Amino acid sequence: MAVAVDSAKYLIDEILPILKRIEEAFALVGICYAGSVTVSFLWKVTKGVRVHFWSKLWKKDLVGKYGKWAVVTGSTDGIGKGYAKELAKHGMNIVLVSRSIGKLERAAEEIVAEFGVETDIVQADFSLGRQVYDDIARHLKDKEIGILVNNVGTMVTPRLFDKVTENDIWTYVNVNVASVPAMTKLVLPGMLERKKGAIINISSEVAYFSLPYLQLYSATKSFVSSFTRAIDTEYGSSGITVQCIEPAGVSTNLNAFDERIHRPGFFTATPDHFATSAVATLGYAKSTTGYWTHGLQLSFLQLFPEWFIVMCFRYMVEFNQKKLK
Ligand SMILES: NC(=O)c1ccc[n+]([C@@H]2O[C@H](COP(=O)([O-])OP(=O)(O)OC[C@H]3O[C@@H](n4cnc5c(N)ncnc54)[C@H](OP(=O)(O)O)[C@@H]3O)[C@@H](O)[C@H]2O)c1
Repeated sequence: MAVAVDSAKYLIDEILPILKRIEEAFALVGICYAGSVTVSFLWKVTKGVRVHFWSKLWKKDLVGKYGKWAVVTGSTDGIGKGYAKELAKHGMNIVLVSRSIGKLERAAEEIVAEFGVETDIVQADFSLGRQVYDDIARHLKDKEIGILVNNVGTMVTPRLFDKVTENDIWTYVNVNVASVPAMTKLVLPGMLERKKGAIINISSEVAYFSLPYLQLYSATKSFVSSFTRAIDTEYGSSGITVQCIEPAGVSTNLNAFDERIHRPGFFTATPDHFATSAVATLGYAKSTTGYWTHGLQLSFLQLFPEWFIVMCFRYMVEFNQKKLK
């Protein structure tokens, strides 16, 4: 009986205070964690409001801030054409670099008629690699290039890697990867000399995920995002704005193979709306989805571990492919 009383007394006097301290420590950790989650949530919301809404309230003098001319690659359709028109709306002259001469001429005529700026067109098939850059350089030589939009990009429909052709591999490398540093190399010296300019690289939300069935596309976009961050660190303090745009769905030819992602809606922007919104973010974010609902979508996806997103994507593609059979 006496032993039992002693044990109970020992429990009350010695163990309980220790347990209480452990409980307090856990509560403190919990409060800190909840605080950091709240602060990071509020920070994200504030940043989102500043980048996607506040930025639109101010008129921008892109010509004065960056220079007279903008070069846009892949500018005869989709996001690139949207960017070319939006920059022309801000009074910039546009060099359109793209593959099809007829579409280039029509896009240039449209821009001149609508915005009264100068244009120049360069027919270049980026999938041919190195050989196209001498001609592009000739067109850019005597122009004050203020903004470069590295937009050109290609994507084959989702498929297993053994179904990807050798030609697809080199097209991805030349169009999605090599064009970005190669075009940057052409305009950077002039920008450094003038101590002003902007380089905008169009990556994608998929840059954050190693997606099966889109293995090459998502990897090439990771390259674009990573290269952009490095270039920003190197030249961000030399008066040059370096920006990475990582959109989700925009209704263009690129995703026309799937009506559900191609149809414009709350999450799928039209190229013109997207470009207007993305251009407004220049100078407000080094890295952004460019469109507010895409920002919401990315924040939601980032709540989950990458393996979960990858697994969902895999099952979604496999489900769709079975339905098509
Ligand atoms: N659409 C989306 O949902 C989405 C989402 C995230 C990121 N992105 C990125 O946004 C960028 C633009 O995509 P988009 O959706 O606007 O594509 P798009 O509608 O297919 O337009 C692509 C543009 O690039 C040109 N182009 C394609 N291959 C070329 C080549 N080998 N050489 C020269 N020009 C070429 C096309 O010219 P032609 O007219 O001659 O074909 C067209 O002007 C890409 O980098 C893409 O990865 C798109």
